[in-house]
Order: sequence, then C-alpha cells, then structure tokens
Amino acid sequence: MDLGIFIPIGNNGWMISATSPQYKPSFDLNRAIAEKAETYGFNFLLSMVKLRGFGGPTEFWDHNLESFTLMAGLAAVTSNIQLFASVALPTLPPPIVARMASTIDDISNGRFGINIVSGWNQSEYTQMGVWPGDWYYDRRYGYATEYVQIMRELWTTGQSDFKGEFFTMDDCRLSPRPKAGSVPIVCAGQSDRGMRFCAEYGDFQFIIGSEDVAGTAADTERLLGHAADTGRDVGPYALYFVITGETDAEAQAKWDHYREGADLEAIAFMTGQANLDVSGSTAAKITELQNIFALNIGKIVGSHASVAQQLDELAAINGLKGVMCIFDDFIAGTEDFGQKVMPLLRSR
Ligand SMILES: Cc1cc2nc3c(=O)[nH]c(=O)nc-3n(C[C@H](O)[C@H](O)[C@H](O)COP(=O)(O)O)c2cc1C
Repeated sequence: MDLGIFIPIGNNGWMISATSPQYKPSFDLNRAIAEKAETYGFNFLLSMVKLRGFGGPTEFWDHNLESFTLMAGLAAVTSNIQLFASVALPTLPPPIVARMASTIDDISNGRFGINIVSGWNQSEYTQMGVWPGDWYYDRRYGYATEYVQIMRELWTTGQSDFKGEFFTMDDCRLSPRPKAGSVPIVCAGQSDRGMRFCAEYGDFQFIIGSEDVAGTAADTERLLGHAADTGRDVGPYALYFVITGETDAEAQAKWDHYREGADLEAIAFMTGQANLDVSGSTAAKITELQNIFALNIGKIVGSHASVAQQLDELAAINGLKGVMCIFDDFIAGTEDFGQKVMPLLRSR
C-alpha cells in the first residue's frame, strides 16, 4: 500500500478549529515534512491550490502558498518521493501548466505529477475576474478533458494544433518535454462525472476516506467501475486524518479537543449558511459539526497499534492503492507515524 501526505500549503492544515495546532504555511515547514516523509519511506506528497480562505477567528485558509512553486522548491531538496502540485483550471492556460510541469519534471528528475482541480468554489475565481460564468458548473469536466488532452499532446509530441470547444492551439510548441514523455495526472472530483473523467484521463484518483471501511470500499468500487468501462488502470488513494496517541483514549481526547474548538464562523462561511447562529449555545452545534470541522474527511484515530490495524484493514480493500494522510501537527505526526506506526504495518 502506498502512503502519501497532503502537505499543509494553507494555515492550520485541514482542521477548522482554534484548539488544533495553529501555524502558517512556509517553505521551511513543508521542507521539514518532506524530508521526514522521505526518511520514513512515504511514497508521495500532494499540495492543494486554494486561493481564498474562510476567515473566522482562525483565519482558516486565508494564508496559502502557491502549489507549483512550492513543489518546485521541494523538488530541489528531495530525491526519491513523488510530488504532485494542483492546478485550478480557470486560472492558467494548459500550455503554461504543461511547461511548468516539464520544468518541475526536470528539477525533480521525473518525480512530478499534476492534480487537476476543475474549479468548484466560485469565489476563488470571481475575485480575480477569471470565473468563466455559471455555465462552467455543468461543463467543467468537458473543459478539463480538453485541457488534459492539450497538455498530453504537448508532452508527448512537443506540438499541438488542438481545436476544441474551449481551447484553440495554433502550432503551439513545448520543449523541453518531460523525461518519461508525460507526467502523471491525478484527480480528486467525488462526483460520478469527476470519477469518470479520472477513469478516462487520470492515473490516480483521490477519494475522501469514510469512517467505515465499507464506505471507502464502496467509493473504490465506484471508481473501479468507471475504470473498467474505460479499460484504464486508475489507482484510488483514500484521504484520511491520522491522529495517534500512546493509547486509544489519548488519541481520541486530542480529536475531541480539536472538535470542541471548531471555528464556527469559518465553518459558516464555508457552508454558506449565513443563518447559522455562531453566537448561541454551541454544544449541540459542535456535535452536529463534528465532521464539518474536519471537512468531512474520514479519521483514523488511536494508539499506534490501532492506527496500523485500521490502515491494514483499508489496505485489504480490493483495488485501493494507498492512503494519503493528514496530520494534526505535521512535523510531529510524520515523525510519530514513521517511528511507531510504519514498523507495525503488515501492508507495508
Ligand atoms: C485529496 C483531494 C484534493 C483536492 N484538492 C483540491 C484543490 O487543490 N483545490 C480545490 O479547489 N479543490 C480540491 N479538491 C476538491 C476536488 O478537486 C473537487 O473539486 C471537488 O470534489 C468537487 O468536484 P466534484 O463535484 O466532481 O466532486 C480536492 C479534493 C480531494 C479529495
């Protein structure tokens, strides 16, 4: 089973909470995580693209580095690990992104791939005048299809005359090209249309891990169904929070503490529920929000042995290629996982 890390390109990682570790993103932080990840044999790192945060007292995701330039920096200081940067399609033309990928492919000696973000959060794009219009919601995967076809043409042949509905190339050129003739494409759309797109054009697909193994197995199955239709080999990776402690109770107490600090204002902004009362009694709401504060991403919480066992259960899912981890504290979490969980994993 492959293991990866969703590195914190934005402040506070993936917990919308005032009681989880509070930090700003920096190159030094992500470099330290990348170095530990290589030391302990993780297979890949992914950074997201996020262009506008949710505010609130924790200023959630109001601070984000840029994905490709961060990965270019990490490419220069690592030597084995696979690196993925994310592109928000409405923000950049495909030949530019193809060239950015060729450049990082060169820096990393062939360890680079692209996460395709078709674009779903309109405010990230309207703020800079690049939202294509509301028609885009329905046609974003058609747009993504042309986008990836152009990049692949440029990578494999160095030239494109692609004429489509959204893009027109006119003897467009690219050189140098990636060493292996192409770079891997990963996608993370959760809709059927998104998965279908990945089955047609992607190499790996991220699915949001479920609390129960059966849920993750069902999503894996859904992706593999699309892949069977297209006849392509597409590897599903499941995304999970991994919170360890010396005992199950200690790990669970950490999680509960983070949940109690949920930043309701930032969550209200994210969910667009303007009428969510962030000033009233919070106990019931926090319970209701217990997964929202962690973005509804599944969690693996427990002692080192119990985390290893839960990961081994996931590894037994037919077709699942790996797990991408989110830690509360990424430096301590990567270190702790590498030292105390990695050696217990039967699936490794
Ligand atoms: C692992 C993972 C990484 C993602 N990375 C990004 C990202 O970098 N930027 C972003 O705006 N959305 C990101 N998303 C959201 C998805 O790319 C996708 O846009 C979202 O699921 C909506 O698409 P859908 O309607 O097809 O499900 C990510 C989702 C997952 C599970």
